[in-house]
Amino acid sequence: MVKKNTCVFISGTGTNLKALIKSSREYNFPINIKLIISNKKDALGLLYAKRYSIPFKVVKTKDTLFEKKLINILNEKKINLICLAGYMKILSKSFINSFKGKIINIHPSLLPLYKGTNTFSRILKAQEIKTGCTVHFVNEKLDSGKIILQKSFEIGKNESILSLKKKTQKIEHKAFSQAITKLYMLV
Ligand code: GAR
Repeated sequence: MVKKNTCVFISGTGTNLKALIKSSREYNFPINIKLIISNKKDALGLLYAKRYSIPFKVVKTKDTLFEKKLINILNEKKINLICLAGYMKILSKSFINSFKGKIINIHPSLLPLYKGTNTFSRILKAQEIKTGCTVHFVNEKLDSGKIILQKSFEIGKNESILSLKKKTQKIEHKAFSQAITKLYMLV
């Protein structure tokens, strides 16, 4: 199997990155993680890049040319899939168009519900009985691209932001890999 050259973008703890790295080490999993990009130099997730010896780069998003430079790096490495795994910066329309149909994101809600940030507090406030996560293609509108896969669970009676986050991330770690498998089974 020829694995897709993949780049994972992170901003934080990188637990989804870790799950993707583990999946990617399986013989039959369709991606190979060639590069990790972080917009935060102290992102904890960079520890996984180091632990698993995967090249990484910290980008300075204030540099107006950063996306242009990034596109060059991604093209040099022949990246054909970008996974946004807790990447908390908005990508420009021109960047998204440069990798049309090749950028996917994981979001901690059942989209189209609760796009954007602070999802867990909004979900609790709305007294939802069910929540979950979504893996979707990235288009020019925030959290609005075509859905690849969703996973859900029932919200308990005494749930807190932290408990919801933990439960959501637990299913995210499976959902991201399953979505990628589904993606390449369809091609
Ligand atoms: C994940 O829960 C992901 O769904 C969320 O950030 C977290 C990153 O955790 N992404 C978004 O909210 C994007 N809008 P991780 O760094 O431990 O993978």
